[in-house]
Amino acid sequence: MEEVLRAENISKSFPGVLAVDNVSLSLGHGEILALVGENGAGKSTLTQILGGAQRPDSGRIILEGKTVSFNSPADAIRAGISMVFQELSLVGSLSVAENIFANRQPVGRLNNVQWKALYQEAQDFLSRFDLDLDPRILVKRLSMGQQQILEILKAISTHPKVLILDEPTSSLTENEIAYLFQNIRKLQEQGMSFIYITHKLSEIFQIASRVIVMRDGKYIASRNVSEVSENDLVSMMVGRQITNLYGAAVEKPLGAERLRVESLSRKGVFQDINFQLRAGEILGFAGLVGAGRTEVARAIFGIDRKDSGKIYLNGNEIQISKPEDAIKRRIAYLTEDRKGWGLFLGMTVRENLIAPSLKRFASRMDFLNQKLVNEYAEKQIEIYSIQTASILKKVLHLSGGNQQKCLVAMWMGIQPEVVIFDEPTRGVDVGARAEIYKTLREFANAGVGIILISSDLPELIGMCDRILVMHQGRIKGEVQRKDFSEELILSYAAGLEETQHA
Ligand SMILES: Nc1ncnc2c1ncn2[C@@H]1O[C@H](COP(=O)(O)OP(=O)(O)OP(=O)(O)O)[C@@H](O)[C@H]1O
Ligand SMILES: [Mg+2]
Repeated sequence: MEEVLRAENISKSFPGVLAVDNVSLSLGHGEILALVGENGAGKSTLTQILGGAQRPDSGRIILEGKTVSFNSPADAIRAGISMVFQELSLVGSLSVAENIFANRQPVGRLNNVQWKALYQEAQDFLSRFDLDLDPRILVKRLSMGQQQILEILKAISTHPKVLILDEPTSSLTENEIAYLFQNIRKLQEQGMSFIYITHKLSEIFQIASRVIVMRDGKYIASRNVSEVSENDLVSMMVGRQITNLYGAAVEKPLGAERLRVESLSRKGVFQDINFQLRAGEILGFAGLVGAGRTEVARAIFGIDRKDSGKIYLNGNEIQISKPEDAIKRRIAYLTEDRKGWGLFLGMTVRENLIAPSLKRFASRMDFLNQKLVNEYAEKQIEIYSIQTASILKKVLHLSGGNQQKCLVAMWMGIQPEVVIFDEPTRGVDVGARAEIYKTLREFANAGVGIILISSDLPELIGMCDRILVMHQGRIKGEVQRKDFSEELILSYAAGLEETQHA
């Protein structure tokens, strides 16, 4: 295969960590190369160097036989390398069309944007990818999945020779993933080359021809996909075997009612949501993106208003009109959107860890007790194996998976009675996922009521006692553990079956 891109002896360090340690790789014309490794292995840093978003300390990049050097992603795009970053970078307050063509809008004589032309061009572009999306709509109105697809299309619109995708499917549904893969294959046939980073190892076998494993910043191995198993990859990634990812469900009688939601509705978003959550129970919420699962969680937690309905905690009706009300009642919500409602990215790991539980650390004068705070932060880092050079590192500079672990650790600090986990293992490697599942079980066993919203069916089936399936804003089915099957859940999620729902 003709080579399109080569990286030679790339190294990059940040304070306290050698993120990429003398890595070389080669990418063929029309090749789909997967890149895997644990959280913090250096995948994003390496590819950001190739995509012009980071400068290497040393090493060379060779594109179609010529040595290149980039000062910015714009440089790389001009040369033919486009990258879709792990964290979304669209501008929510702008339209779909403006986001696709940011800085490349058709302008008229007076340098004014030609809106009609812009929308038309965007419409044409979207329909080329069979995407039924209004180019005028504001990006913040789109689901996370739609935003992610849009982000990818935006990168494709620059006609790159090499497209780097950093965990592109982390918030896509099965259908959206199938859609993405179809388009990747189409573009591959036209000669586009891909570097594809993922933690969902099964995807590698569907889309990639070769896979490179990184560990601790180092290149570990390159294998043809046809010659490795998922287990081989896992042991190369973590250097140990992981068995029984979801842990064992302990047979336990469920406790008293923790949370009850009655006739919760929000016009046009979700209708007549009724359910009960008991102490020690892990209750799953399945459904396609857009089914309204996150919206229900946000309403319970007080981020969005509700039009009607009642919420009971431990048998007493409670009023929640803002997140502070929920936190005071020890209801925690771990958002699917780390960047938005989750972490304070610009602040340190320590500040984030204590954020929702500040009160515990205030001494009489309301000053934070520094010694306690530091001890607490160090302890949380250890418990949740958050990989960071120190508690003073900015969360922004943690790897994506370690940011997620930080979010879990931060909310556990309020000693919650009810926890809503919204896609908690998105972008989290297998080792760390096992840790998060363990935490979830520990909390359930201690009597916390847990709601688990997830698009990962094996995860729901592996973890939950009971699963509610939403479709178009309504609960369409309820499945008990003994009846769990992907087929049944998917058929409810697609709106195909109805059950009597109590
Ligand atoms: N801008 C930065 N400043 C300081 N440290 C950084 C920065 N970017 C990355 N790091 C560190 O470099 C290491 C590699 O991080 P990187 O994001 O490349 O990992 P990753 O393999 O992409 O992990 P994940 O699967 O969690 O996304 C980590 O220890 C991370 O904390
Ligand atoms: Mg990363």
